[in-house]
Amino acid sequence: MMLHRRAVLAGSLATALLPSRLLAEEPGLIRRPIPSTGETVPAIGIGTSRRYDVAPDSDAMAPLRETVAKFVGLGGTVIDTAPDYGRAEEVLGRILAETKLRDKIFLCSKVAAKGREAGQAQIEQSFRRLGTDRIDLIAVHNLIDPEAQLPLLRELRDKKRIRYIGATTWAEKQYGDLEALMRAEKLDVIQVNYAVDARQAAERILPLARDRGIAVMVNVPFGRERLFTLVRGRELPPWAAEFDCRSWPQFFLKYVLSHEAVTCPVPGTAQVRYVEDNLGAASGRLPDAGQRRKMEEFIDGL
Ligand SMILES: NC(=O)c1ccc[n+]([C@@H]2O[C@H](COP(=O)([O-])OP(=O)(O)OC[C@H]3O[C@@H](n4cnc5c(N)ncnc54)[C@H](OP(=O)(O)O)[C@@H]3O)[C@@H](O)[C@H]2O)c1
Repeated sequence: MMLHRRAVLAGSLATALLPSRLLAEEPGLIRRPIPSTGETVPAIGIGTSRRYDVAPDSDAMAPLRETVAKFVGLGGTVIDTAPDYGRAEEVLGRILAETKLRDKIFLCSKVAAKGREAGQAQIEQSFRRLGTDRIDLIAVHNLIDPEAQLPLLRELRDKKRIRYIGATTWAEKQYGDLEALMRAEKLDVIQVNYAVDARQAAERILPLARDRGIAVMVNVPFGRERLFTLVRGRELPPWAAEFDCRSWPQFFLKYVLSHEAVTCPVPGTAQVRYVEDNLGAASGRLPDAGQRRKMEEFIDGL
């Protein structure tokens, strides 16, 4: 994988974890802009649902700490969490404190509460759990009470406690409501499910995001285990090499990333051995329109 030298030098723990052959290479990862400001982020992040919900004092912390350190060492910055992910926010907060990597992270959380007061309380809890006074993005989780939460998020953005606001879903049945919200409000970011075998977001949501200048984070890009189950025991098609794809995770992520509206998929990544593979999807060539159709046909044919 190609690397960005400045990113590699960030964080001594992260650097120590890198094989020496990786330290010399550059340039770095594909980056994508957040249209509302023009700020760019590396085009693959980490999602923390389920796997980061561990006891903060347990042995389960070590692989997560290594994963985050390696991710940052290889130039990654975007990490997605939520108050609804059990202890994930607390675990991530501890890791960032221990590794001193907070300033290298584009930190994303969510609010899932009904009513302003409950929203406020949950957001303050996120700041405490994450051990930070600035969260880069807070999004309304699964479109729960945006009428109460978006004004609150805008106030926090005005006070510079957060930098971006957004909304998330992972259910096609919410796409109508998400579309209405994207038209009615000025969101910086949406997060939506999109995968090579689950392409409905590309019909209306992704084009609307492009037209409205909204950044798109993509959740569940592997359908959790669904896509891995589909290709189990199969070799990558030889034409995957035409877009520098070396593994099934890269096949799935490069498909998502090659949609022009997509800013950053956040695959759930809790094992250090996944980090280089997943970040590798944001390097080299991406599939063009014809190759994307070929990928869809291949997956649909399984
Ligand atoms: N409504 C919402 O806002 C919403 C909803 C859902 C998800 N999300 C966000 O999106 C993130 C991603 O979704 P997800 O974690 O549910 O599903 P996912 O990203 O589709 O799949 C994650 C699973 O894929 C496996 N995996 C990851 N990298 C791999 C690699 N290189 N090789 C082999 N297997 C690999 C891991 O399985 P093992 O751990 O079993 O090895 C991991 O748990 C979440 O973590 C969360 O941050 C948001």
